[in-house]
Amino acid sequence: MALNKENILIVDDDIKILELLARRLKEFNYHVFKAISVKEALFILKDTSIDLLITDIQMPEVDGIQLLKYAKEHYPNMPKLVVTGYPSVGGALEVLKSGAMDYLTKPFTKEELKMAVERALEKRQEHQGAIISVPSPIQQPAFKEMVGDSTAFGQVLTIVDRVKDNKATVLIQGESGTGKELVARAIHYSGKYSKGPFIAVNCGAIPENLQEAELFGYIKGAFTGADQNRNGFFQAASGGTLFLDEIGNACLDVQAKLLRALQEKEITKVGSRTSEKVDLRVVAATNMDLSEEIKKKSFREDLYYRLTVVEIKVPPLRERKSDIPLLVDRFLQKYGMEYRDRLLRMDSEALKILERYSWPGNIRELENVVQRAVIMADGPIGVKDLPDFLKYEIEFPEEELMPLRDMERQYIKRVLLYAEGNKTKAAKILKISRKTLRDKLD
Ligand SMILES: Nc1ncnc2c1ncn2[C@@H]1O[C@H](COP(=O)(O)OP(=O)(O)OP(=O)(O)O)[C@@H](O)[C@H]1O
Ligand SMILES: [Mg+2]
Repeated sequence: MALNKENILIVDDDIKILELLARRLKEFNYHVFKAISVKEALFILKDTSIDLLITDIQMPEVDGIQLLKYAKEHYPNMPKLVVTGYPSVGGALEVLKSGAMDYLTKPFTKEELKMAVERALEKRQEHQGAIISVPSPIQQPAFKEMVGDSTAFGQVLTIVDRVKDNKATVLIQGESGTGKELVARAIHYSGKYSKGPFIAVNCGAIPENLQEAELFGYIKGAFTGADQNRNGFFQAASGGTLFLDEIGNACLDVQAKLLRALQEKEITKVGSRTSEKVDLRVVAATNMDLSEEIKKKSFREDLYYRLTVVEIKVPPLRERKSDIPLLVDRFLQKYGMEYRDRLLRMDSEALKILERYSWPGNIRELENVVQRAVIMADGPIGVKDLPDFLKYEIEFPEEELMPLRDMERQYIKRVLLYAEGNKTKAAKILKISRKTLRDKLD
């Protein structure tokens, strides 16, 4: 059998699967690298030239989607294969969006694995061929990805532009799905630190007792299972940007250490007595109202002030409805080409419905609605391709809005009509005194 020289990195938090995959791939004569977490995978990717990444999706702490997104940005030509035990339509879409080319559903046979790996590696060769004529792949993906021309969004972009080249800590606040992560990426990729890594850590996804070790690293023997020295995310992001997502979920102990890391620019690994210098920019995000958390004593006030050297408030979509047509266009382009190989249009009735809705899930929700419509539609996208909940939202046309006083006057008139002009009866229904009713009528 010919010797395959390719390096394959497999990432799975389930040791059994990791070992099984490794054994099989070795049988096919590949060099195999194993990682039981995304963090471990990042270290291997940094030091080794990997030809194919195979990853699980569902993993504690940082999931496979994050890894795929990271790999898509930093190693655009490396083929990526996903091994998953939970196939679902939504999940599959997310996987494809994050840059994986193919995926394999557990359980799979040896033959299926072999085929998938060979197919993925072949694609890499095609890509390398193409790269010669296209010298620079996507350079600053995030900035270009953001669209919007409302004043509210313009203010966000202005601040992004101002902070992109310096190391000031930035806190991004906004409701779920407003684009906080995209803003963080824009800061990183458009600025001076774009050559360094962008590492996104979801503080809410790391169990409290592991947060310190994950962020700052640990030394051998620091706790059971710590069988070697390990760097944390702070060091992994050195020279680049560390994005601390859902910072409101960092536990109080870790908050104290974060404060120190930001102030002194040094960290101490768990179990160590010496501190180490770190050089990176920190961008944090939250959809909580941190001032409330401070009142409840679940967030440190001093850390809050440290983080908000620069504050970016990403407005909810309902406060920048004029961005909706542009966003819809963007998503029509993106998903039209991806799923239908052509650009789909949306008729004005459907667009009107999108402009009226209040979008509690913000841009993410809008994106999902457009994506679904692109998949469902068999012509220009119309009202019939939109989900029903958009159409049923109770909604006053602008011209029906009125001051409370006028509303009250109209209502009192109706009650009086019902009471056939009997003021005592009307006052009883309204639960006010006859005198009050008389005053109001005057
Ligand atoms: N201005 C924009 N232009 C185009 N797409 C956008 C814009 N803002 C956000 N999006 C898209 O909307 C989705 C949600 O954005 P993102 O993940 O950055 O939001 P978030 O605020 O971090 O959400 P969460 O609070 O749920 O973590 C993403 O798919 C992103 O690409
Ligand atoms: Mg986010």
